[in-house]
Amino acid sequence: MNLRGTTIRFFTPFKKEKKGEIMKKSEEYIYYGAGAYAADHFNDFRAEYAPLCFCDRAASQGGGKTLFGLPVLPPSAMLEEYPDASIVITLHPQNKLKVQAWLLEDMKIPSSRIANFEPYEKVYSCSYIENDIYSHNDSWILCCSDYGRNVSPSVKFQAGASAVEIVSELKRLKHDTLKAIQDDTPCACTGCRNLKMVVRRLGSESPVNNINFIHTCPCNLKCQYCGGRGVRYQEEFNIDWELRREIIEVLKQQGLVKPHTAAFIGSGEITIHSKRREILETFSGMPCMIASNCVIYDEIVADFLVKENAYLFCSVDAGTRETYAKIKGQDLFDKLRNSLQKYAQGGAAIELKYIFLPGVNDNEDDVEGFTRLASELKARKVILSRDCTNMTPLDEFTIDMMAKLFIHASDMSIPAELLIPDVLSGDENERLMKRISLYTQGFLKEKRARGCKRGENFCMEAGS
Ligand SMILES: C[S@@+](CC[C@H](N)C(=O)[O-])C[C@H]1O[C@@H](n2cnc3c(N)ncnc32)[C@H](O)[C@@H]1O
Ligand code: SF4
Ligand code: SF4
Repeated sequence: MNLRGTTIRFFTPFKKEKKGEIMKKSEEYIYYGAGAYAADHFNDFRAEYAPLCFCDRAASQGGGKTLFGLPVLPPSAMLEEYPDASIVITLHPQNKLKVQAWLLEDMKIPSSRIANFEPYEKVYSCSYIENDIYSHNDSWILCCSDYGRNVSPSVKFQAGASAVEIVSELKRLKHDTLKAIQDDTPCACTGCRNLKMVVRRLGSESPVNNINFIHTCPCNLKCQYCGGRGVRYQEEFNIDWELRREIIEVLKQQGLVKPHTAAFIGSGEITIHSKRREILETFSGMPCMIASNCVIYDEIVADFLVKENAYLFCSVDAGTRETYAKIKGQDLFDKLRNSLQKYAQGGAAIELKYIFLPGVNDNEDDVEGFTRLASELKARKVILSRDCTNMTPLDEFTIDMMAKLFIHASDMSIPAELLIPDVLSGDENERLMKRISLYTQGFLKEKRARGCKRGENFCMEAGS
């Protein structure tokens, strides 16, 4: 089916009411979403809506989990126990509308039950264009080029242009690209695998959820999966950080940057960047994710992490010294561990990432070593990913190791997530979910004790 030009709109049947009196129809509300956003904003939600319980797709059927003393139910239990209670969606704005659409369309919950319902439409677009912008050297780009697979739509900053003019260029680029996608006229996005029906807020221009700063700057490692290692991460591109600061201010004034908009600082290696203080100051006051390989402990970065609303995002990708050296090109696992411990002791929030590389780090020792490290550091989350330059379908063995990572993390009470759902294909996602559920039922334990070999399709054998 060709979805181009298709737009489906969903309106609330209720009139919009003033903030503070938004459709309060029941005394207590189910909070849908029990993740970090719900926890961080619990008091804000509670000031407006009295909580009844939490509901989360990740909650186990058997129940037992609580958050702020309230039970966390899976959706099936929520529907059964509270068939009429109103719902407040307590998810990050970037995820809220997608889940809202799922509640309405798949769970058949009427919009009248959703207290903070927002009218939305479904359009043929791409989640990068809808959520992100990228500042790359002297250009705007609309995606990370999907790790080099496509030519990202881009526009250069004109020499001497003001922040207002540069923001206008960004808006024009977005508008022209979306129009070309809708009209099916050739553009940089033509043929991109990320084009699909996506959910968008109706009405005012959607805010940017993530501003990514991916400038050319040096790095001290050579990760085997990183496209930048040989080319982009050798020398420093001369960036006018004052101009970047002005651009963010203009984006704020125009309502494109909201308080929840996150800055992603992630090119080269921040801890060795000569202008790291200046770079970090640019994002003061915004939620920030600082990507670092963390082999160096840096005071400026450490200071920023504790003073600001920022967290450290470190792609560890291994749980043993040998595998780490193989992937990163240097024998620095112990140094990494020490430096991460210093950041953690200083009070930094840390998320650790694991890029699954078939045949390299998809084994029990690495997965277990990694989750142990996450537990030692009291990491607030672990993130699973893959080498995005290699979309060869992941075999059952790698999927099994991903499931094991989820299970180990859950045993240690560390939330685990995929980087983005699209990092796996629909089929891979399904296989992973099935495998996790087999583990949680204890079904594969016996099989695993007998040992499984790479290439063996033991999920099927288990008769699932
Ligand atoms: C390019 S790095 C720069 C920041 C820092 N040096 C680091 O390693 O975190 C930013 C992020 O891109 C991720 N990355 C790089 N190449 C990738 C690939 N081929 N597939 C998936 N993620 C990749 C890294 O894991 C890291 O989290
Ligand atoms: S459709 Fe593809 S090329 Fe275009 S912005 Fe999205 S990810 Fe990038
Ligand atoms: S540390 Fe980061 S920038 Fe450096 S090679 Fe690895 S992923 Fe690339």
